[in-house]
Formats: sequence, structure tokens, C-alpha cells
Amino acid sequence: MADRILLQALDGKTLKVPPVWMMRQAGRYLPEYRKIRAEAGSFLDLCYSPVFATEVTLQPIRRFGFDGAILFSDILVIPHALGRDVRFVQGEGPRLDPITVDEIERLTTENLHSRLEPVYETVARVRDKLPSETTLLGFCGAPWTVATYMIAGRGTPDQAPCRLFARKHPDAFQKLVDILVESSISYLVRQLDSGADAVQVFDSWAGVLDPDSFVRWSLKPMIEIVEGVRKVHPGARIIGFPRGAAFNLLNYVEKTGVNAIGLDWTVPLDWAKMHLQPSVALQGNIDPLLMISGGKALDGAVDAVLEAWSDGPFIFNLGHGITPDGKIDHVQQMIDRIRHNR
Ligand code: CP3
Repeated sequence: MADRILLQALDGKTLKVPPVWMMRQAGRYLPEYRKIRAEAGSFLDLCYSPVFATEVTLQPIRRFGFDGAILFSDILVIPHALGRDVRFVQGEGPRLDPITVDEIERLTTENLHSRLEPVYETVARVRDKLPSETTLLGFCGAPWTVATYMIAGRGTPDQAPCRLFARKHPDAFQKLVDILVESSISYLVRQLDSGADAVQVFDSWAGVLDPDSFVRWSLKPMIEIVEGVRKVHPGARIIGFPRGAAFNLLNYVEKTGVNAIGLDWTVPLDWAKMHLQPSVALQGNIDPLLMISGGKALDGAVDAVLEAWSDGPFIFNLGHGITPDGKIDHVQQMIDRIRHNR
């Protein structure tokens, strides 16, 4: 494990050349992914097939030699394992039956692990096949972000249905968040048991919360998750990604005790270096659209990150997932530029 530079960065080490991986690195921008996706059937079939999920997790490692592999799955397997109906509609994204107050009261975690067993098997298979120097990242969605899909039944631009639900039914919403905290802890623990080297918690919709709601629905649940995971796996390495958290980032880093903070492309590089990097490794934060446009602007953005963050621990990544129209050549261009001194 000593050769896994992504783990070294998570442990606070400053490296000459940073580790690099990309959110959504296994995805539709890769022809080899599209091929397996078509063979697997539904998207959830792909997530629950250890053979296919292992294959697509490894694809970007074979093609680009990233320093980190991220388990191929989805944040919505948790609601599915809690017994909710989850479907992925081609070209439209996820669809769930919006959960009601009564249904929240009846939610139970009793079948959670039996449904998620194939995911743990995928983790073990991937770890077995990965090169020794490649870090394996497990993940889950943060309770707030998962709840936004459970309440609205789909992605929405500003998460208004969920924000409104939390205001109208704070007790029921607290219950839902508590169940998601409990599920996330045991889900991440099982991924670590199965061979994940570190885990990332995606709070993709943290940026729509007012400051008090951020504390209640994003920060507190994350504190509980970090504590709960480390109770079983002391020293577990955890990356938090509260996308759009802006003014709340400093508080999040200080209170949660994450090893690294994922930053989206709106966060100024110098500010992150000055205020966050002294206490935590940074991860990010290239605009994913640069993977479509490429060119000198991409080189400039890569250089800016390297220049700003190289005096401290950091992990090179995008500020959010690569889109299906991202270009393979531009991904290679980014990697070559990062590694030209390695
Ligand atoms: O490569 C990786 O990063 C690992 C796999 C991964 C997926 N989803 C695969 C996926 C990860 C880490 C996720 C996380 C996820 N899923 C998040 C948090 C990160 C983020 O992007 O904000 C969220 C919000 C979801 C929910 C979700 N899943 C949405 C909104 C969609 C539809 C959008 C889209 O790109 O189609 C998905 C589907 C999904 N998850 C795809 C992939 C590769 C595309 C589905 C397909 O191949 O048909």
C-alpha cells in the first residue's frame, strides 16, 4: 500500500506530482463503457453485476492509468436497497416514487445488505485486479443529496421539493436523514471491509441549502458518518464533496475531520490554498466542460491548479463529473500535462 500516492495525499503528504482521477471516469464518454452498458441491460443491472461493474471500474484505469479507481455503482442504490422503486430513464436520468411522510415512518434497513451484497463483491474483485499502486475508492451519496432524489423522485434544478418538505415536515425529514446516515455508515464500512482503500461522500446538492439548513442536513449528518465509519475503521480515509458549499466549506472541513475536500470549479484556487489546504488535502477542481473544449484553455487551467496547490497535499480532479460529450483526447492531454515531470 506504500506505493499508493493517492493515499499519501490523503495522509497529508506533499508530492512532486499529484495523484489524479476523475469523477465519473467510468461513463458514457468511453466507447468501452457504452458497449458494456448496452450488454448489461438496465443501469441498475450494471450496478448489481459484479462482473460488469468490475469491468467498467477498470476501464478508465487501463486506458489512462489513473491513480485512483472509483467503484462503479450509484448513490441511488441506497434508496433501492431500502425498498424504494428506482429506475433510470434513458436520456432523462433517475426516477423514483416520491416518498411520503407515512412511507418514511415505515422505512427499515433490514434488507439493506442483502441487496447490496453484489456491490461488496465488486469492491473485492476490483481490488484483486487493480495494480498495486492504484487506490480503490468506495463511495456513497450524502444523506441530503440522496434525500433530494427520494423526495422529488428525480433531479431538479434547485431541489425545491426537498427543501419545502424539510420545512413542512422537519421531524419526518429528520427520520429520513437519520436512516440514510445509518445506512451510509454501514454501507461504507462494508466497502472498506471488502477492500476499498478510502471512501468519498458525494453531497452534490449541498449548495442549495441556507446556512442553518446546511448545518442540520449536510454538516451534522457528515460528522455522524465520519464518526460512525471511524468507530469501526479507525483512521478510515474519507473525502467529502459538498458541491457548491462555498461559504460553508471552512466549517465543513473543521468540523467533519475529512482527509480531503472535493472542490467544484467555482472555488478560487488561492482561497482554497490559504484557508483549507493547511488542514486538509484539496481535490479538484477543473471545470468538466474543459474536457469538451480542450485546447490552450485546458492547459492553462491545469497549470493554474498545479501552480496554486503544489506546495501542499492535493489530488488532481475535475470540479464535478465528466459529461458524456467529454473528449478522450482532452482527458489524455490533462494527464500528460500533470505528469510530464513524473
Ligand atoms: O465513475 C464514477 O464516478 C463512478 C460511478 C458513479 C456513477 N454515479 C455512475 C453513473 C458515481 C460516483 C455516481 C454518483 C452519483 N449518482 C451522484 C453524485 C455525483 C454527481 O454526479 O453529482 C449523483 C447525484 C447520482 C445520481 C445519478 N445517477 C444521476 C443524476 C444520473 C443521471 C445523470 C446522467 O449522467 O445520466 C445517474 C446515472 C449514472 N450514474 C450514470 C453513470 C455512469 C449514467 C447512466 C448511464 O450510463 O446510462
